Amino acid sequence: MIVFEDLKKYKKIISLVLTLTFANALGELFLPRYMSKIVDIGIVNNDIPYILKSGGVMIVITILTIIVRGSAAYYSAKAAMLFSRDLRYKIFNKVNDMTFDDTEIFGISSLITRTTNDVGNIEQLVLMSLRPLARAPLMIIGGLSMSLAIHVQLTLVVLIAFPFLAGILYYVMKGVIPYFPVLQARLDRMNLLFRQRLTGLQVTRAFSNDAQEEEIFNEASQKHYELNLKLNKDLATIRPLMVLFLNIAIIAVIYFGSRFVLSNTIQIGQLMAFIQYITQMLSGFIMLSYMLTLLPRTSASIHRVEEVITYPIHKTGGNHSLDGPIQSIKAMDLTFNYPYANHPALDQLNFEIFAGESVGIIGGTGSGKSTLLKLLLQFYEPTSGTLEINHCPIQSIKTKELRQEISYLPQQIFFFSDSIRGNMQYSNKYATDERILNELATAQTQSFLNLSDKKVLDQEIYRGGANFSGGQRQRLAIARALSRDASLYLFDDSFSALDFRTDYHLRKKLHSQLKNKITIIVAQRVATIRQMDKIFVLNDGRLVGVGTHDELLKHNKIYQEIAISQGEEGVAK
Ligand SMILES: Nc1ncnc2c1ncn2[C@@H]1O[C@H](COP(=O)(O)OP(=O)(O)OP(=O)(O)O)[C@@H](O)[C@H]1O
Ligand SMILES: [Mg+2]
Repeated sequence: MIVFEDLKKYKKIISLVLTLTFANALGELFLPRYMSKIVDIGIVNNDIPYILKSGGVMIVITILTIIVRGSAAYYSAKAAMLFSRDLRYKIFNKVNDMTFDDTEIFGISSLITRTTNDVGNIEQLVLMSLRPLARAPLMIIGGLSMSLAIHVQLTLVVLIAFPFLAGILYYVMKGVIPYFPVLQARLDRMNLLFRQRLTGLQVTRAFSNDAQEEEIFNEASQKHYELNLKLNKDLATIRPLMVLFLNIAIIAVIYFGSRFVLSNTIQIGQLMAFIQYITQMLSGFIMLSYMLTLLPRTSASIHRVEEVITYPIHKTGGNHSLDGPIQSIKAMDLTFNYPYANHPALDQLNFEIFAGESVGIIGGTGSGKSTLLKLLLQFYEPTSGTLEINHCPIQSIKTKELRQEISYLPQQIFFFSDSIRGNMQYSNKYATDERILNELATAQTQSFLNLSDKKVLDQEIYRGGANFSGGQRQRLAIARALSRDASLYLFDDSFSALDFRTDYHLRKKLHSQLKNKITIIVAQRVATIRQMDKIFVLNDGRLVGVGTHDELLKHNKIYQEIAISQGEEGVAK
């Protein structure tokens, strides 16, 4: 199984664990022999020196087995932890390579459960089975051959119990195994609800839907609990039943054994050793059966982790080098459909943009503005038509090189829990403090940050930016986008929360700073883009107008409507 591939890396530790466990079991197999000799030779003949000598050997063996067992436990835990760490890395890297469509197929909550809970289950499996794997067979074979060596008939009495044990195990497993995948799916749902509940806390409270949300969550939680209880109850019956059989077997051994003692075919010490060997043999069997119950419990998790790490990554981009800055963008009948959508988000777009140009995109909500920017970032590939960057189809350009040339400010702003400096350097790790302060000034953050003191850069941004207001977040995000040296700047609705004056000053600064680059600004307000070299008017996925503000105002009906609805005449230039 591919999930366990990485265990190979820890061959050395695992062999050590197996050897130590083997030695431990061997030691335990020898102890009853010494004990039986103490009884049959030492006590029967009243040979005190023999008793002391054999007792001494038993003590030494016991101490050694304790040390060996402790080390085996330590190294098996180490192997299991290293293995699960690698597995988490593997999933994380895989998810990192996935496209947005891919992550949507799994769902974020499910990916989180898979990385935490499922990997935890697999780690438990490795931890719980490494030692029994070496120990159980030795206990069964060793115990069996030792008891056969002592008394064949008495051994046969015990062996009668085995088919019954196997029967119980089979019966329980059959009823339990199919439900484990269902249990994991219910856990996923619970996580999803909890995540939604936490992220949407303000909405829930504002609409007073707490009680309803609680009910939904409680129901999901109850369903998970019920199934979990049922499965664990079923599995819990196995162990006591096994122990019951073990005890019945011991009673049978004592009953028949005492008769054999009377008929002198077995000595009393041998009978005592025999009982210990039988116990060892059956406990080996119980150990194996416990591992068998662990397997289905984990098989759902193994499957879920395997699904992620074997997921075929659809690599974005191709092998074509970009060779320098982005000089031109050209769309010919560019069309894009989101997966499963029946309406194109972009419908046969034709346009050209060259270095040094600034482009504004305006259009109603859902008209495809954000989608166009996402296509330029290779988040998605065109469904038909072409989108060319420097005369090369975008899907054949190396993703890394393309994105290196782009600075993007998404519509939904997100920050990492880090200092302002850390967040600014996220777009450019070489950005100096001076540069960052400079960009923060361009983004008009001085109204809430004291830019004259470098210490301001140590200020923390929490939980995606929650400790700043919406407008402040936008300005910080603008500074982050500006901190990057790119040839194409994409701003998706990044100025909407700014007041008109700030918006105006900012645009003026941007204009001079990004003179030789391509700047594309998606905006809701005509005022934000009125001075752009070109304005694209999008309507329901179609490009219904390209031109300057004045041209569009004269000839484009949709643009006119937007401008008039915003009282364009009264807006500050
Ligand atoms: N991930 C997605 N999966 C499916 N459909 C999507 C997805 N994202 C957007 N859409 C659809 O594509 C269309 C264009 O969406 P887009 O986000 O580009 O609009 P927009 O012009 O940026 O709107 P807004 O001004 O509200 O931000 C919409 O009809 C939307 O429903
Ligand atoms: Mg949008």
